Order: sequence, then structure tokens, then C-alpha cells
Amino acid sequence: MIIVLLGPPGAGKGTQTAALVNRYGLTPISTGDIFRANLNAGTLLGLEAKNYMNQGLLVPDELTVRLVEDRLAQPDAKKGCLLDGFPRTVFQAEELDKILAAQGLAVDYCLLLDLPDLELLTRLTGRRVCRACGSVWHLTFSPPPDNLICPCGGEIYQRGDDGEAAASNRLKVYQAQTRPLAAWYQKRGKLKTVSASGSPERVATAIQQALDG
Ligand code: AP5
Repeated sequence: MIIVLLGPPGAGKGTQTAALVNRYGLTPISTGDIFRANLNAGTLLGLEAKNYMNQGLLVPDELTVRLVEDRLAQPDAKKGCLLDGFPRTVFQAEELDKILAAQGLAVDYCLLLDLPDLELLTRLTGRRVCRACGSVWHLTFSPPPDNLICPCGGEIYQRGDDGEAAASNRLKVYQAQTRPLAAWYQKRGKLKTVSASGSPERVATAIQQALDG
């Protein structure tokens, strides 16, 4: 099974990933995580992506599509994938279809997590992340330890694109460039929309109902 996880920044895509990959036996592939891992490792790809990410802009399509094509060619992708944050433009969706078609595959579902902008901004600006293990916290909804050291020993920090200016820009970019993908997948009969309001557990249950019918 191949699921595209679509939704605005801060809707809870990363938060819902673990339950989804466990339930359906999928390999999680997050383009944002891949860019951040490259950024932390100081690779050329990371340096190139950094300027776009910190301004809340999308990394250019060509670079992103090549990266996903390579990732999908790895053995663990063969059992099925959860694509978090890709595609993000109609061009990326068309390229994804071509890459999958070459392997006799296709996207099964596009799962859209929807939430109003005001709640998104609260989730984004309050988010804190462990630099070592990637655990996600929220200053109000799931507060990190006071010393900002994760139980794994890693430093808990605020992502460079979670400040108010970059976060607001990401929401605008989402509406202009990514939101049209909902209609694109709807037209192909693949869209499942779920409200991302309420507790993570409520959202997980709603996702399960949407996918299992
Ligand atoms: P990416 O890393 O994909 O970020 P995003 O899509 O902006 O999504 P986020 O990670 O911000 O949010 P999320 O939905 O995963 O929310 P989370 O679960 O953490 O991309 C970053 C950047 O990389 C892009 O801006 C772009 O530059 C580049 N990029 C990536 N992919 C690209 C592509 N395909 N093309 C071009 N460029 C690309 O939750 C958020 C917070 O809310 C957390 O604190 C969490 O604890 C809390 N929370 C979650 N659920 C709930 C709940 N139900 N109730 C209360 N709090 C909750």
C-alpha cells in the first residue's frame, strides 16, 4: 500500500506517522526529515535546502523529486510506503505517479489532515523537537522536560522554520502550492479527508475509520 499524507504544516502528520506505519506495515518517508538530516550532517543537499526551509519556502521540485526517486528505489520501500510531506506540488504528484507506474505501482490513498490556520500556528510555534532522536514535544500540549534535555540525552530545540514569520509563510505557501493537491487526488478518487482537531488519539481513530471504512 502507498499512502500520501497531505496536510498543512503543523496538522500532525509526523505525530500520526508511527501509528499508521505500524498498522499498515509501511516504511515512513518524510522529505522534511530527509532534508533536516542532511542539514544536521552538513551535506551539500542540506546546505541547498536550508535557505528555502528557513524562509518557509518549498525546496525546488527537481531536487525533491530526485531525492524521493532514490529513496523509493531502496529495498525497504518495496513493502509499501507512507509519504509524509511529498508530493507538495502538482508537478511532484505527476512525477510520483510516473516513478510508481514504472514499477507497476500507484498511490492507493491520499489522506488529508485538515485544521484551521489559528490552531496550526499555535501547534507550530509551540513545537519543540529532540535533535538526537526526533521526538516531538509541544510547550502546552505535551511539554518537554524543564531542562530541555530529552530522555535520550539529546538537546530539545525549536526548528528554524517554526518561528512566527517562517511558520506564517509556510501556511501561505501550503494554500498556494500544496492545497490544490486535495482536488487533484479527489478527482482521481483517492482522497480521504480527516479533521486534525482534538487529541492525537481522536485523530488516530478518525484516520483508522477513514481508511478501513
Ligand atoms: P516538513 O518537515 O514536511 O514540515 P511540514 O509539512 O511543514 O509539517 P510539520 O513537520 O511542520 O508538521 P506536522 O504536520 O508533521 O506536525 P507535527 O506532527 O510535528 O517540511 C519542512 C520543510 O522542508 C518545508 O517547509 C520545505 O521547505 C521542505 N520540504 C519538505 N518536503 C518538501 C517537498 N515535498 N517539496 C519541497 N520542499 C519540501 O505536530 C506539530 C505540533 O503539534 C507538535 O508540537 C505536536 O506535538 C503537536 N500536535 C500534533 N497533533 C496534535 C494534536 N492532535 N493535539 C495537540 N497537539 C498536537
